[in-house]
Amino acid sequence: MISKALIWFKRDLRMQDHAPLVAAQAHDQALGLYIIDPAWLQSSECDPQHVDFTLACLGELRTALAGYLGHGLDASRIWAANGSNEVMTHLLQAFGGPGRSVLSFTPTYSMYPEYARNTHTTYVTVPRLPDFTLTSAMVLAAVAEHRPTIVVITTPNNPTGTTTPLAVIEEVLAGTDAIVVVDEAYQEFARHPERTALTLLGRYGNLVVSRTMSKAFALAGGRVGYLAAAPAIVDACRIVRLPYHLSAQTQAVALVALEHAPELLAQVDELRVTRDEMLVRLPQLGVEVVDSDANFCLFGPFGDRHDVWQRLLDRGVLVRETGPAGWLRVAAGTPVETERFYTALAEVMEEIR
Ligand SMILES: Cc1ncc(COP(=O)(O)O)c(C=O)c1O
Repeated sequence: MISKALIWFKRDLRMQDHAPLVAAQAHDQALGLYIIDPAWLQSSECDPQHVDFTLACLGELRTALAGYLGHGLDASRIWAANGSNEVMTHLLQAFGGPGRSVLSFTPTYSMYPEYARNTHTTYVTVPRLPDFTLTSAMVLAAVAEHRPTIVVITTPNNPTGTTTPLAVIEEVLAGTDAIVVVDEAYQEFARHPERTALTLLGRYGNLVVSRTMSKAFALAGGRVGYLAAAPAIVDACRIVRLPYHLSAQTQAVALVALEHAPELLAQVDELRVTRDEMLVRLPQLGVEVVDSDANFCLFGPFGDRHDVWQRLLDRGVLVRETGPAGWLRVAAGTPVETERFYTALAEVMEEIR
């Protein structure tokens, strides 16, 4: 059964004269998604001549992003904003808020609590298993306990790089009416990028897949994040966004980047190889490494990770002191940078032995 995700759309945002929503509404009735009072749709106030506004907002960019993602998506199922930071904020503005909660699984991306705080949404976390994976049973148990409006599953996860299998995500979707946001910020780096939650969108109206141009396109400064979801969820984001939220320059930059996607994504293959080498080389240097599908690896554990971080920095190598206690995160860089990191780490390991 398809979940009625939009039962979560905040009541005070259900503006009955919001014509752009009608098109999506009609479309999503088949999925059982409701933003607008169905009675209004039948009323004389609803003018079907004015209902198809799908492309009125960021039409060209949303069409291009849909083309990039594939999976039969079109602009009506895509939303874009200033980074996936803002996309997530829109979701929480529409579906979170006072008295509601968002659930995530730690260690995970450090900005989620900020989005929650800024939207007065309660932030609830449940620890991942010791190997940083998730099972559907633990996710659904956490959902039953905390009754969140939104569940965030980050895959590959930041800062661990851990992938959550599609089967787990599908079991979660089937087991809850909450909105499930699958944050695939690093999906292009995965060993199997085709194993994406986008493949589940046709079946689950409560699924949101979040993506960004910050990572694989190396365009973090461009500030372009986007999501794929049912049209009614997209239109809920359109209600809460600020007018003209994504500048013409940002849209132009994103469109050019998408036109040149093959060239810009060429480095992804190289970074994947570097990441895979790290998974082999780091244990040879005497540290554990967490299996990663992202463009970074979490390595450790160290009794004093700050000391190791400082010793690496003293050798001109900057890694991230982030994530669970005792662990450090290293990004897959150029071959020269990565060799320098291995050399520095070997020296540090010798020193602290
Ligand atoms: C898991 C995850 N999601 C989202 C983001 C935010 O990306 P953006 O630059 O699109 O806001 C990041 C950035 O580090 C991230 O690690």
